[in-house]
Amino acid sequence: MDLQHLALHRTDGAPIYLQLYRRYREAISEGKLRPGDRVPSVRSLASELNVARGTVEAAYQMLVSEGYFVARGAAGTVVSPRLEHLAGPGQTPPARAASAPSNARMASSAALPFQLGLPALDAFPRKAWARLAGRSLRTLETVAMAYPDPAGYEPLRRAIATYLGISRGITCTHDQVFVTSGYRGALDLICQTLLKPADTGWFEDPGYVHARQFLERIGVRLTPVPVDAEGLNVTAGLQRASHASFAVVTPTHQSPLGMALSLPRRLELLDWAAQRRAWIIEDDYDSEFRYQGRPLPALKSLDGHGRVLYTGTFSKVLFPGLRLAYLVVPQAQVGRFKDAVTIFPGPGSISPQATVASFMEEGHFARHLRKMRTLYAERRGYLVDALERYGADWLRVQPQAGGIHVSAGLASRQDDIALTTAANAKGLAVEALGRWRIRKASQGGLLMGYANFASEDDAVKAVKRLLRVIKDSPA
Ligand SMILES: Cc1ncc(COP(=O)(O)O)c(C=O)c1O
Repeated sequence: MDLQHLALHRTDGAPIYLQLYRRYREAISEGKLRPGDRVPSVRSLASELNVARGTVEAAYQMLVSEGYFVARGAAGTVVSPRLEHLAGPGQTPPARAASAPSNARMASSAALPFQLGLPALDAFPRKAWARLAGRSLRTLETVAMAYPDPAGYEPLRRAIATYLGISRGITCTHDQVFVTSGYRGALDLICQTLLKPADTGWFEDPGYVHARQFLERIGVRLTPVPVDAEGLNVTAGLQRASHASFAVVTPTHQSPLGMALSLPRRLELLDWAAQRRAWIIEDDYDSEFRYQGRPLPALKSLDGHGRVLYTGTFSKVLFPGLRLAYLVVPQAQVGRFKDAVTIFPGPGSISPQATVASFMEEGHFARHLRKMRTLYAERRGYLVDALERYGADWLRVQPQAGGIHVSAGLASRQDDIALTTAANAKGLAVEALGRWRIRKASQGGLLMGYANFASEDDAVKAVKRLLRVIKDSPA
């Protein structure tokens, strides 16, 4: 490829490394670069374009980690030969066809159109991250190289406690914070510490499918509790299983429908938990992203009786490959959890934890969140506008104040699971609301991520492809 194609604009709002990354992606999808083609070395491209080597490195790292490039050491860097199946000009190559919802798929492929649960990978501040990661490795104290604290790296736990106090209204000390390997690591720790295998818990219907599968596998019993415009229907929970010993809720943005749990319902739920001595597992997975009104304080901030186990994750605010989440336990339970964590594998290596701690302490985290809120509001607009402009006869977009996905009801009686299977086969990673439901519903719906739609055009093209699938599917 002629280096002219990489022409970079110093006045363009996007950082140079991002422009470079995008140019390469475009060149690959337009067929200007073919699978197996060798790209210039970092050193020669940096000197050719008169930019710092770190800038080219950052772009190359993104392209390698998303599967566009393969680094072959001394043999140089080439366009991945696995992109051989590239459908043709103008199409971004999906790394793998989508199928049923699976975090494994998310982990190994670049973002597919509509992919759920994935933050904007192109907007992650890789340069700052790489700098902090390098520095934390270089300055790692000897004491930090020994067996780590199984509750998590202390500076990170302190940074999380400070952040939660300011942003989520949660008063806690770092002693109450346990770093875990993803949200399921937090669920596992709760189950092993406080629950018995045959315990019954309330689970939102529809609700987060991966948590449901995990809890079922652990062996607890789940009672589906419907959600309505005010979130979890506590009265229905009381009617169905007032004896339950725990409830799993997403009070800030119900997952997947997006409404907030109303204040009267919050108080009812806390009241039930206090009386019944039940546990509330609060999953606050993407509360940082709200586009209308002020973010609601966490349910945990109202927990006067020490019944709420609060969980948050870095998957949406940083990136899911980190596999880092956290759990805040009531003060009275700290001893039990401290004992429990000594038995379990813990959150893994301290290096990424140290990088996240520096990222938070040095203000990058707050800055990144601010930028992402603006970016997601814009990208959400791309998708909602495209759906309303082209798909209004087929899909009804549900109003949602926050999050990083949109849910839309199907206007017809089409089977949402069959429809998403057809869409997935075409590389569109929409998910069926039906898979997130425990009890069947007559009306289907689609869940669509938008965080990785980098332009209006991207969203329009994806929506048109999706509409073709919907029109071709049996009514
Ligand atoms: C409802 C909900 N809770 C929690 C999580 C976070 O899970 P993890 O920390 O395992 O990435 C997600 C991620 O998609 C989610 O959708």
